Amino acid sequence: MEMLIYKTPDYSAMSLKAADILSAQIILNPGSVLGMATGSTPEGLYRHLAERYRAGTLDFSGITTINLDEYIGLPPDHPQSYHYFMRTNLLDHVNVPAENTHVPDGLEPDEARECSRYEAVIQAAGGVDLQLLGMGLNGHIGFNEPGDCFPLDTHSVTLTDSTIQANKRFFEREADVPRRAYTMGIGTIMRARSILVVVSGEAKAQAVRDAFFGPVTPRVPASILQLHPNVTLVADSAALSAVDGIVHTF
Ligand code: F6R
Repeated sequence: MEMLIYKTPDYSAMSLKAADILSAQIILNPGSVLGMATGSTPEGLYRHLAERYRAGTLDFSGITTINLDEYIGLPPDHPQSYHYFMRTNLLDHVNVPAENTHVPDGLEPDEARECSRYEAVIQAAGGVDLQLLGMGLNGHIGFNEPGDCFPLDTHSVTLTDSTIQANKRFFEREADVPRRAYTMGIGTIMRARSILVVVSGEAKAQAVRDAFFGPVTPRVPASILQLHPNVTLVADSAALSAVDGIVHTF
């Protein structure tokens, strides 16, 4: 495995390092197709990217963004939709052309049709150059939850109870958390030419250990990343606390 691991003292240094890696990608290839993630972990790094755009050091005019996932049933202006998250956290603050930003359409009721449309969007963009990933407490990536096999292409899923519990913090009531979502599959993610994983906090220390230092198994979806030739992990020392001493970090 060729995984490069950056260990940072805390969340804010993790965000800065990840923003540096994304900035390097944008500067070296201003026509990059970036796979985007939502959630708490990338918020800090998106803030840095927006600041760098404002400061004139980053230009997103040639960039395409393709998000990992979206809840089924939430309209794009719903504050908990991933469309809304991407606009408020990044896209409203930088100059990615609107027509080059893609998130699965949570309002498309024909699930098979939306999944094949989304795979076609990725293909038409020429594939993903750099895929940003957060990781769930159970090792999920996108909404690819632990299971008996690795789901390959973009598909629709029923969320597990653990993910509903983790995500309910963003909703008024647990009953408001959507039960289904669209997500890129493991195959979709593995086709990205490079992958940047960001992880923060003690709560994910075991997941980091299982995903990157345990067996490759669909029980820990992120473990498949061990088979990808170009993965960078940026994690704070709390998230790396269960692998202290057994890994080489920068
Ligand atoms: C988000 C996504 C999820 C999150 C994961 C971690 O688009 O696909 O897999 O990356 O649930 O979420 P946070 O960062 O909130 O801990």
